[in-house]
Amino acid sequence: MSTKLPLTTPLAEDNSLFRDLYTRMLRQIQVDAHNVVGVTSSVDGEGKTTIAINLAITLANDHGLVDSGKRSGEILIVDCNPGTVGTSKGLMVESIPGLIHYLRHQYPVDGIVKQVFLPRLWVMPVGSSPFDFSPLIRTEVMKELIATLRERFEVIILDLPSILTTTDTLVLAGLADQILLVVRSGVTPSAVLGQALERLNRDKLAGMVLNDYRRPLPRWLEKAV
Ligand SMILES: Nc1ncnc2c1ncn2[C@@H]1O[C@H](COP(=O)(O)OP(=O)(O)OP(=O)(O)O)[C@@H](O)[C@H]1O
Ligand SMILES: [Mg+2]
Repeated sequence: MSTKLPLTTPLAEDNSLFRDLYTRMLRQIQVDAHNVVGVTSSVDGEGKTTIAINLAITLANDHGLVDSGKRSGEILIVDCNPGTVGTSKGLMVESIPGLIHYLRHQYPVDGIVKQVFLPRLWVMPVGSSPFDFSPLIRTEVMKELIATLRERFEVIILDLPSILTTTDTLVLAGLADQILLVVRSGVTPSAVLGQALERLNRDKLAGMVLNDYRRPLPRWLEKAV
């Protein structure tokens, strides 16, 4: 992949980070039709869901995708964290049924893809009963689901588990075209980040997001000195 995000991108108060991520991603989407984006991190709690939701909202708010004459401009965020409700709670939709119901019971896609408060933004909760999630995501049914979703949605954001906690992450990352790696500023030890990078397919790594970065000076003062 030719365009990489900078190694560290501070989370800005004015949401400019997400616009920046969007601009760079859009370039990939137009040139390469890279439209499945996995968001992961080395370990838990680094801000994957926060980044995934904010990125999805920024994408859905941008009329450029539709106005440019491309396909639908519809954005989907898929929660891939069994046993949690972070994404559906954050976007205020019912947490069941979800992905697991589709994989296990052939639930209709329309029943698990839920519209949220913004036009063109949809969420697929992970669903309940995580015990058989690992075998379910390793099936052709999962691959076919992503292929079906590619037809309908302009961008699909996978809110993935963290790399060092489960091998499910690498399996799911294999279904994505690009990966964003979230790093929590001042929290993630560099050795841990190094281990995560060793496991990840670096060809798919579109960039890293340095989350929760605190500037020592306010931005206006930074410019003045
Ligand atoms: N930039 C930030 N500023 C302040 N709080 C943040 C920031 N990013 C994340 N948080 C908070 O940190 C906690 C963990 O964030 P989040 O749930 O997004 O992480 P995660 O990587 O998805 O976690 P998990 O591995 O459990 O899925 C949440 O309470 C969230 O609100
Ligand atoms: Mg999460």
